[in-house]
Amino acid sequence: MTAQAPGPAEPTSSGAKAAGPEAGGANVFVRMTGTGDPERHVTLGTGERPVAGRGKVVVRVEAAGVSYAEVQMLQHLHPFPPSFPFVPGYDLVGRITEVGPGVTDRQVGDRVAAMPRHGSWQRYVETPAKTLATVPEEQDAAVAVALVTNGVTAWQMLHRVADVRPGDAVLVHGASGGVGTLLTQLAVHHGLRVIGTASPAKHDAVRALGAEPLDYRTPGLPAVVRELAPGGVRAVFDHVGGRGLDDSWAVLADGGTLVSYDSSVAGYRPGQWFRPHVPALRRTVRRWAARHLGLTRGRRMSMYYVKPGKDFNDDLAALHGLLANGVLRPEIAGRHPLDEAAVAVRALLHGSTVGKHVLLP
Ligand SMILES: NC(=O)c1ccc[n+]([C@@H]2O[C@H](COP(=O)([O-])OP(=O)(O)OC[C@H]3O[C@@H](n4cnc5c(N)ncnc54)[C@H](OP(=O)(O)O)[C@@H]3O)[C@@H](O)[C@H]2O)c1
Repeated sequence: MTAQAPGPAEPTSSGAKAAGPEAGGANVFVRMTGTGDPERHVTLGTGERPVAGRGKVVVRVEAAGVSYAEVQMLQHLHPFPPSFPFVPGYDLVGRITEVGPGVTDRQVGDRVAAMPRHGSWQRYVETPAKTLATVPEEQDAAVAVALVTNGVTAWQMLHRVADVRPGDAVLVHGASGGVGTLLTQLAVHHGLRVIGTASPAKHDAVRALGAEPLDYRTPGLPAVVRELAPGGVRAVFDHVGGRGLDDSWAVLADGGTLVSYDSSVAGYRPGQWFRPHVPALRRTVRRWAARHLGLTRGRRMSMYYVKPGKDFNDDLAALHGLLANGVLRPEIAGRHPLDEAAVAVRALLHGSTVGKHVLLP
């Protein structure tokens, strides 16, 4: 995958099959050059198109997601940071323009999704064929890319990690965000009662998704959640981490699951890339041990991290089914050309929008 900022032309790999009209031509990409302001460190560049190596394909990107991971990378607070300069971009939807030697199950023209974690913010991406998922022809590219990382994350946390049944109450932190809006829609569709935290300006949006909004800055939040759901909630989905994990644990019903899926808690300096995650790791280990000693009333804590593979592809296909049925309506906060990547990252930094920002290279 061409994740580092592309350099001079690479030699064409023998045996690669390219699409006629798409063969040749320049690549355009976004680079992240260091930590600091997006206006300074998120810049546009041009270079040669990648060539498909063995087991790989080249994809002409139609849409690439802007995610909180890029905000963390810009602050050097991401747990798995690439080294600068690199091409950011967690996920993409596009069409294969070239198939490398050894690839037998994909063809030029196939519409696909990928989650390379970085490298998607460019017009042409070289990526391993075996990690691709299929995207239906009729799907809008921006909507389809909102399902890739955010949708699969929401689906798997709800259906593969938490043990929830219709009628249960759950707490979704950040119900106004890219993951949170989809998680709320999926949970409501599953017959769950959703208490969704967000800043007050976004409460109408959260209510429109079918959840009961709550300000995450509310003093004594666990007591307020207990008033709303006296027996506790069956699951909490927490991307903030830190000491707030103790509040999330405290509102769980017996037998409930705390799903910790990031540590975006404020207060760390750029470069302290692993420290925000230590509180979550400690608590997960401690509660795992306590659970096995029978000390948690059946409650458990689980850390979740999305990864490609068969489950990912199956779950993405299930999400496309719900999209086609009108059950899911991914919120698209903004559609931007590549040269507006800094604008999109700034919007996520400010927390000023609802849903997913998407680049259309
Ligand atoms: N583990 C994984 O595999 C995985 C996969 C995808 C994403 N993630 C993580 O999931 C998180 C959400 O991603 P995203 O793309 O949905 O980001 P996003 O669109 O920026 O949404 C962030 C959400 O967090 C809310 N928020 C801010 N401060 C909060 C607080 N103190 N307590 C509770 N909620 C708060 C925001 O609400 P307001 O805007 O109303 O302030 C917003 O709804 C990120 O940390 C991302 O890295 C993890």
